[in-house]
Amino acid sequence: MILALETSCDDTCAAVVSERGEVRANVISSQGVHDRYGGVVPEVASRHHLELVNAVVDDALERAGASLSGLDAVAVTQGPGLVGALLVGVASAKALAAAHRLPLVPVDHLHGHVAANFLAPRPFEPPFLCLIASGGHTLLARVEDRGPAWEVLGTTLDDAAGEAFDKGARLLGLGYPGGPALERLARAGDPAAFSFPTGARVAGLDFSFAGLKTALLYKLRELGEEETARRRADLAAAYQHAIVEALARRVESALAETGLRRLAIGGGVAANGALRARVRGLADELEVPPLELCTDNAAMIASAARYVPALPFPDYLALDAYASGERGL
Ligand code: KG4
Ligand code: ZN
Repeated sequence: MILALETSCDDTCAAVVSERGEVRANVISSQGVHDRYGGVVPEVASRHHLELVNAVVDDALERAGASLSGLDAVAVTQGPGLVGALLVGVASAKALAAAHRLPLVPVDHLHGHVAANFLAPRPFEPPFLCLIASGGHTLLARVEDRGPAWEVLGTTLDDAAGEAFDKGARLLGLGYPGGPALERLARAGDPAAFSFPTGARVAGLDFSFAGLKTALLYKLRELGEEETARRRADLAAAYQHAIVEALARRVESALAETGLRRLAIGGGVAANGALRARVRGLADELEVPPLELCTDNAAMIASAARYVPALPFPDYLALDAYASGERGL
Protein backbone atom coordinates (compact mmCIF):
# COMPACT_ATOMS: atom_id res chain seq x y z
CA MET A 1 0.00 0.00 0.00
CA ILE A 2 1.34 3.43 -1.01
CA LEU A 3 0.42 6.77 0.56
CA ALA A 4 0.98 9.65 -1.87
CA LEU A 5 0.97 13.42 -1.40
CA GLU A 6 0.51 16.01 -4.16
CA THR A 7 0.85 19.74 -3.46
CA SER A 8 2.36 21.12 -6.68
CA CYS A 9 -0.26 23.81 -7.25
CA ASP A 10 -3.41 24.80 -5.34
CA ASP A 11 -4.94 21.41 -4.51
CA THR A 12 -3.85 19.68 -1.32
CA CYS A 13 -4.11 15.97 -2.16
CA ALA A 14 -3.42 12.64 -0.45
CA ALA A 15 -4.27 9.16 -1.67
CA VAL A 16 -3.82 5.53 -0.72
CA VAL A 17 -3.33 3.10 -3.60
CA SER A 18 -2.49 -0.61 -3.63
CA GLU A 19 0.40 -2.17 -5.55
CA ARG A 20 -2.13 -3.39 -8.11
CA GLY A 21 -3.36 0.16 -8.66
CA GLU A 22 -6.62 -0.01 -6.73
CA VAL A 23 -7.53 3.42 -5.35
CA ARG A 24 -8.46 2.98 -1.68
CA ALA A 25 -8.77 6.72 -0.98
CA ASN A 26 -8.28 9.84 -3.10
CA VAL A 27 -8.73 13.05 -1.08
CA ILE A 28 -8.56 16.43 -2.83
CA SER A 29 -8.92 19.68 -0.94
CA SER A 30 -9.27 22.56 -3.42
CA GLN A 31 -8.27 25.86 -1.93
CA GLY A 32 -11.00 28.09 -3.44
CA VAL A 33 -9.26 31.15 -1.92
CA HIS A 34 -7.52 31.98 -5.21
CA ASP A 35 -10.74 32.65 -7.14
CA ARG A 36 -10.92 36.24 -5.96
CA TYR A 37 -7.43 36.95 -7.37
CA GLY A 38 -8.26 35.44 -10.77
CA GLY A 39 -5.43 32.93 -10.48
CA VAL A 40 -3.27 31.00 -8.04
CA VAL A 41 -1.17 33.11 -5.64
CA PRO A 42 1.92 30.99 -4.80
CA GLU A 43 2.42 32.26 -1.23
CA VAL A 44 -1.25 31.79 -0.41
CA ALA A 45 -1.14 28.28 -1.85
CA SER A 46 1.87 27.26 0.28
CA ARG A 47 0.29 28.58 3.46
CA HIS A 48 -2.94 26.70 2.79
CA HIS A 49 -1.07 23.48 2.02
CA LEU A 50 0.62 23.80 5.42
CA GLU A 51 -2.72 24.19 7.16
CA LEU A 52 -4.44 21.39 5.27
CA VAL A 53 -1.86 18.69 4.65
CA ASN A 54 -2.09 16.79 7.94
CA ALA A 55 -5.88 16.67 7.89
CA VAL A 56 -5.92 15.55 4.26
CA VAL A 57 -3.42 12.73 4.99
CA ASP A 58 -5.40 11.60 8.06
CA ASP A 59 -8.59 11.64 6.02
CA ALA A 60 -7.04 9.53 3.23
CA LEU A 61 -5.68 6.96 5.69
CA GLU A 62 -8.99 6.74 7.51
CA ARG A 63 -11.03 6.35 4.32
CA ALA A 64 -8.64 3.63 3.15
CA GLY A 65 -8.76 1.86 6.51
CA ALA A 66 -4.96 2.05 6.53
CA SER A 67 -2.37 3.07 9.10
CA LEU A 68 1.06 4.62 8.60
CA SER A 69 2.82 1.60 10.05
CA GLY A 70 1.05 -0.66 7.55
CA LEU A 71 2.29 1.22 4.48
CA ASP A 72 4.94 -0.05 2.05
CA ALA A 73 6.07 3.41 0.95
CA VAL A 74 5.28 7.12 0.94
CA ALA A 75 5.28 8.89 -2.44
CA VAL A 76 5.34 12.59 -3.15
CA THR A 77 5.35 15.00 -6.09
CA GLN A 78 8.89 16.37 -6.26
CA GLY A 79 8.22 18.75 -9.19
CA PRO A 80 7.54 20.56 -11.42
CA GLY A 81 5.23 23.12 -9.82
CA LEU A 82 5.24 26.05 -7.41
CA VAL A 83 8.34 25.49 -5.36
CA GLY A 84 6.90 26.68 -2.03
CA ALA A 85 3.83 24.51 -2.52
CA LEU A 86 5.93 21.47 -3.49
CA LEU A 87 8.14 21.92 -0.42
CA VAL A 88 5.18 21.47 1.92
CA GLY A 89 4.42 18.09 0.35
CA VAL A 90 8.06 17.00 0.21
CA ALA A 91 8.73 17.98 3.84
CA SER A 92 5.53 16.31 5.07
CA ALA A 93 6.22 13.12 3.10
CA LYS A 94 9.79 12.94 4.41
CA ALA A 95 8.59 13.39 7.98
CA LEU A 96 5.87 10.75 7.64
CA ALA A 97 8.22 8.26 5.98
CA ALA A 98 11.13 8.86 8.34
CA ALA A 99 8.98 8.50 11.45
CA HIS A 100 8.12 4.95 10.35
CA ARG A 101 11.44 4.16 8.60
CA LEU A 102 9.52 3.77 5.34
CA PRO A 103 11.00 4.21 1.85
CA LEU A 104 10.16 7.42 0.01
CA VAL A 105 9.36 7.64 -3.71
CA PRO A 106 9.88 11.03 -5.42
CA VAL A 107 7.53 11.35 -8.40
CA ASP A 108 7.49 13.73 -11.35
CA HIS A 109 4.09 15.45 -11.58
CA LEU A 110 3.77 14.81 -15.32
CA HIS A 111 4.63 11.13 -14.91
CA GLY A 112 1.72 11.20 -12.46
CA HIS A 113 -0.68 12.54 -15.11
CA VAL A 114 0.49 9.78 -17.49
CA ALA A 115 0.20 7.13 -14.75
CA ALA A 116 -3.43 8.07 -14.00
CA ASN A 117 -4.06 5.78 -16.98
CA PHE A 118 -2.51 2.76 -15.20
CA LEU A 119 -4.94 2.63 -12.29
CA ALA A 120 -7.40 -0.22 -11.74
CA PRO A 121 -9.97 -1.37 -12.65
CA ARG A 122 -9.21 -0.75 -16.35
CA PRO A 123 -5.56 0.17 -16.84
CA PHE A 124 -4.76 1.55 -20.29
CA GLU A 125 -1.59 -0.22 -21.42
CA PRO A 126 1.25 1.46 -23.34
CA PRO A 127 2.15 2.10 -26.08
CA PHE A 128 -0.05 5.17 -26.52
CA LEU A 129 0.05 8.88 -27.26
CA CYS A 130 -0.77 11.00 -24.22
CA LEU A 131 -2.06 14.57 -24.32
CA ILE A 132 -1.94 16.35 -20.98
CA ALA A 133 -3.61 19.75 -20.96
CA SER A 134 -4.15 21.63 -17.72
CA GLY A 135 -3.79 25.08 -16.20
CA GLY A 136 -0.07 24.50 -15.72
CA HIS A 137 1.02 22.27 -18.58
CA THR A 138 0.39 21.25 -22.17
CA LEU A 139 2.25 18.18 -23.27
CA LEU A 140 2.21 15.53 -25.96
CA ALA A 141 4.08 12.41 -24.91
CA ARG A 142 4.90 9.09 -26.48
CA VAL A 143 4.39 6.50 -23.73
CA GLU A 144 6.08 3.15 -24.38
CA ASP A 145 5.95 1.67 -20.87
CA ARG A 146 4.78 2.50 -17.36
CA GLY A 147 8.05 4.09 -16.22
CA PRO A 148 9.04 7.76 -16.22
CA ALA A 149 11.10 7.63 -19.44
CA TRP A 150 8.35 8.69 -21.84
CA GLU A 151 9.36 10.87 -24.77
CA VAL A 152 8.22 14.49 -25.01
CA LEU A 153 6.93 15.13 -28.53
CA GLY A 154 5.56 18.60 -28.00
CA THR A 155 4.95 21.19 -25.31
CA THR A 156 3.75 24.77 -25.11
CA LEU A 157 6.06 27.64 -25.95
CA ASP A 158 4.09 30.08 -23.78
CA ASP A 159 0.67 29.67 -22.07
CA ALA A 160 -0.79 26.28 -21.14
CA ALA A 161 -4.11 25.27 -22.75
CA GLY A 162 -6.01 25.66 -19.46
CA GLU A 163 -4.37 29.02 -18.93
CA ALA A 164 -5.62 30.06 -22.38
CA PHE A 165 -9.15 29.06 -21.30
CA ASP A 166 -8.72 30.98 -18.02
CA LYS A 167 -7.37 34.13 -19.66
CA GLY A 168 -10.04 34.11 -22.38
CA ALA A 169 -12.73 33.62 -19.77
CA ARG A 170 -11.39 36.55 -17.81
CA LEU A 171 -11.53 38.79 -20.89
CA LEU A 172 -15.14 37.71 -21.37
CA GLY A 173 -15.94 38.62 -17.76
CA LEU A 174 -16.23 35.06 -16.46
CA GLY A 175 -14.89 33.85 -13.09
CA TYR A 176 -11.84 31.72 -12.29
CA PRO A 177 -11.19 28.92 -13.19
CA GLY A 178 -12.55 29.96 -16.55
CA GLY A 179 -12.55 26.70 -18.51
CA PRO A 180 -15.86 25.27 -17.31
CA ALA A 181 -17.62 28.68 -17.45
CA LEU A 182 -16.31 29.37 -20.95
CA GLU A 183 -17.45 25.94 -22.10
CA ARG A 184 -20.96 26.57 -20.75
CA LEU A 185 -21.18 29.95 -22.48
CA ALA A 186 -19.82 28.47 -25.73
CA ARG A 187 -22.71 25.98 -25.94
CA ALA A 188 -25.04 28.79 -27.03
CA GLY A 189 -22.58 30.18 -29.58
CA ASP A 190 -21.38 29.53 -33.12
CA PRO A 191 -17.73 28.38 -33.29
CA ALA A 192 -17.47 29.69 -36.87
CA ALA A 193 -18.68 33.19 -35.96
CA PHE A 194 -15.10 34.42 -35.55
CA SER A 195 -11.75 33.07 -36.63
CA PHE A 196 -9.04 32.95 -33.96
CA PRO A 197 -5.44 31.72 -34.44
CA THR A 198 -4.64 28.10 -33.63
CA GLY A 199 -0.86 28.45 -33.39
CA ALA A 200 -0.57 26.79 -36.79
CA ARG A 201 2.62 28.69 -37.53
CA VAL A 202 4.47 26.97 -34.70
CA ALA A 203 6.68 24.28 -36.20
CA GLY A 204 6.50 20.61 -35.24
CA LEU A 205 4.34 19.38 -32.40
CA ASP A 206 4.72 22.35 -30.04
CA PHE A 207 1.84 24.62 -29.02
CA SER A 208 1.47 28.37 -28.63
CA PHE A 209 -1.55 30.06 -27.05
CA ALA A 210 -0.34 33.57 -26.26
CA GLY A 211 -1.37 34.96 -29.68
CA LEU A 212 -4.87 33.59 -29.25
CA LYS A 213 -5.48 35.54 -26.07
CA THR A 214 -4.21 38.73 -27.72
CA ALA A 215 -6.44 38.11 -30.76
CA LEU A 216 -9.46 37.89 -28.46
CA LEU A 217 -8.45 41.10 -26.71
CA TYR A 218 -8.21 42.96 -30.03
CA LYS A 219 -11.51 41.51 -31.20
CA LEU A 220 -13.24 42.73 -28.03
CA ARG A 221 -11.81 46.23 -28.55
CA GLU A 222 -12.91 46.22 -32.16
CA LEU A 223 -16.45 45.12 -31.31
CA GLY A 224 -16.93 47.56 -28.46
CA GLU A 225 -18.88 46.93 -25.28
CA GLU A 226 -22.39 46.61 -26.65
CA GLU A 227 -21.56 44.28 -29.52
CA THR A 228 -19.31 42.21 -27.25
CA ALA A 229 -22.13 41.80 -24.74
CA ARG A 230 -24.47 40.67 -27.51
CA ARG A 231 -22.01 38.19 -29.01
CA ARG A 232 -20.33 36.75 -25.92
CA ALA A 233 -21.51 33.21 -26.65
CA ASP A 234 -20.17 33.37 -30.23
CA LEU A 235 -16.87 34.76 -28.96
CA ALA A 236 -16.60 31.97 -26.38
CA ALA A 237 -17.46 29.29 -28.93
CA ALA A 238 -14.94 30.56 -31.49
CA TYR A 239 -12.23 30.95 -28.84
CA GLN A 240 -12.83 27.45 -27.49
CA HIS A 241 -12.82 26.13 -31.06
CA ALA A 242 -9.34 27.61 -31.64
CA ILE A 243 -7.91 25.93 -28.51
CA VAL A 244 -9.54 22.59 -29.33
CA GLU A 245 -8.28 22.75 -32.93
CA ALA A 246 -4.76 23.61 -31.77
CA LEU A 247 -4.74 20.56 -29.51
CA ALA A 248 -6.50 18.16 -31.87
CA ARG A 249 -4.38 19.00 -34.93
CA ARG A 250 -1.17 18.31 -33.00
CA VAL A 251 -2.67 15.05 -31.78
CA GLU A 252 -3.47 14.08 -35.38
CA SER A 253 0.06 14.93 -36.54
CA ALA A 254 1.63 13.08 -33.60
CA LEU A 255 -0.44 9.96 -34.29
CA ALA A 256 0.57 10.06 -37.95
CA GLU A 257 4.25 10.65 -37.17
CA THR A 258 4.60 7.99 -34.49
CA GLY A 259 2.27 5.39 -35.94
CA LEU A 260 0.67 5.08 -32.49
CA ARG A 261 -2.98 4.05 -32.70
CA ARG A 262 -4.12 4.68 -29.14
CA LEU A 263 -4.65 7.98 -27.35
CA ALA A 264 -5.07 9.02 -23.70
CA ILE A 265 -5.97 12.53 -22.60
CA GLY A 266 -5.61 14.04 -19.13
CA GLY A 267 -5.34 17.31 -17.20
CA GLY A 268 -8.25 19.60 -16.33
CA VAL A 269 -8.90 20.54 -19.96
CA ALA A 270 -9.75 16.88 -20.69
CA ALA A 271 -13.08 17.71 -19.02
CA ASN A 272 -13.95 19.85 -22.04
CA GLY A 273 -16.76 18.28 -24.07
CA ALA A 274 -15.74 19.93 -27.36
CA LEU A 275 -12.19 18.56 -27.01
CA ARG A 276 -13.43 15.07 -26.18
CA ALA A 277 -15.78 15.10 -29.16
CA ARG A 278 -13.06 16.40 -31.49
CA VAL A 279 -10.43 13.78 -30.56
CA ARG A 280 -12.88 10.86 -30.52
CA GLY A 281 -12.23 8.80 -33.62
CA LEU A 282 -8.71 10.13 -34.23
CA ALA A 283 -7.21 6.96 -32.77
CA ASP A 284 -8.41 3.35 -32.59
CA GLU A 285 -8.91 3.72 -28.82
CA LEU A 286 -9.42 6.79 -26.66
CA GLU A 287 -8.87 6.77 -22.91
CA VAL A 288 -10.12 9.57 -20.67
CA PRO A 289 -9.66 8.72 -16.99
CA PRO A 290 -12.52 9.75 -14.67
CA LEU A 291 -12.43 13.50 -14.07
CA GLU A 292 -11.10 13.28 -10.51
CA LEU A 293 -8.09 11.40 -11.91
CA CYS A 294 -7.63 13.83 -14.84
CA THR A 295 -7.25 16.92 -12.66
CA ASP A 296 -4.46 17.14 -10.08
CA ASN A 297 -4.74 14.34 -7.52
CA ALA A 298 -2.50 12.11 -5.43
CA ALA A 299 -3.81 8.75 -6.70
CA MET A 300 -1.97 9.38 -9.97
CA ILE A 301 1.23 10.10 -8.00
CA ALA A 302 0.87 6.81 -6.12
CA SER A 303 0.24 5.06 -9.43
CA ALA A 304 3.46 6.47 -10.92
CA ALA A 305 5.39 5.65 -7.74
CA ARG A 306 4.90 1.94 -8.48
CA TYR A 307 7.32 2.35 -11.42
CA VAL A 308 9.96 4.59 -9.80
CA PRO A 309 12.81 3.29 -7.58
CA ALA A 310 12.12 3.95 -3.89
CA LEU A 311 14.73 5.67 -1.73
CA PRO A 312 15.36 3.71 1.49
CA PHE A 313 15.46 5.48 4.87
CA PRO A 314 17.47 7.70 5.49
CA ASP A 315 18.68 8.39 1.93
CA TYR A 316 15.88 10.85 1.21
CA LEU A 317 16.34 13.21 4.13
CA ALA A 318 18.10 15.79 1.95
CA LEU A 319 15.65 15.38 -0.96
CA ASP A 320 14.61 18.71 -2.47
CA ALA A 321 11.76 19.85 -4.70
CA TYR A 322 12.31 21.18 -8.23
CA ALA A 323 10.24 23.96 -9.78
CA SER A 324 10.79 22.98 -13.40
CA GLY A 325 11.65 19.58 -14.80
CA GLU A 326 14.77 18.20 -16.43
CA ARG A 327 12.91 18.32 -19.71
CA GLY A 328 12.27 22.02 -19.20
CA LEU A 329 8.54 21.52 -18.60
O1 KG4 B 1 -5.45 19.74 -14.01
P1 KG4 B 1 -6.04 20.94 -13.37
O2 KG4 B 1 -7.16 20.76 -12.39
O3 KG4 B 1 -4.95 21.77 -12.60
C1 KG4 B 1 -3.75 22.17 -13.12
O4 KG4 B 1 -2.76 21.40 -13.04
O5 KG4 B 1 -3.72 23.29 -13.66
O6 KG4 B 1 -6.52 21.89 -14.56
C2 KG4 B 1 -7.20 23.09 -14.33
C3 KG4 B 1 -7.38 23.78 -15.66
C4 KG4 B 1 -7.89 25.19 -15.54
O7 KG4 B 1 -7.14 26.03 -16.39
C5 KG4 B 1 -9.34 25.08 -16.00
O8 KG4 B 1 -9.83 26.26 -16.58
C6 KG4 B 1 -9.25 23.97 -17.01
O9 KG4 B 1 -8.32 23.05 -16.46
N1 KG4 B 1 -10.56 23.33 -17.19
C7 KG4 B 1 -11.26 23.37 -18.35
C8 KG4 B 1 -12.48 22.69 -18.10
N2 KG4 B 1 -12.47 22.26 -16.81
C9 KG4 B 1 -11.29 22.65 -16.27
N3 KG4 B 1 -10.96 23.90 -19.53
C10 KG4 B 1 -11.88 23.77 -20.51
N4 KG4 B 1 -13.07 23.17 -20.35
C11 KG4 B 1 -13.42 22.63 -19.18
N5 KG4 B 1 -14.60 22.03 -19.03
ZN1 ZN C 1 -1.22 18.83 -13.23
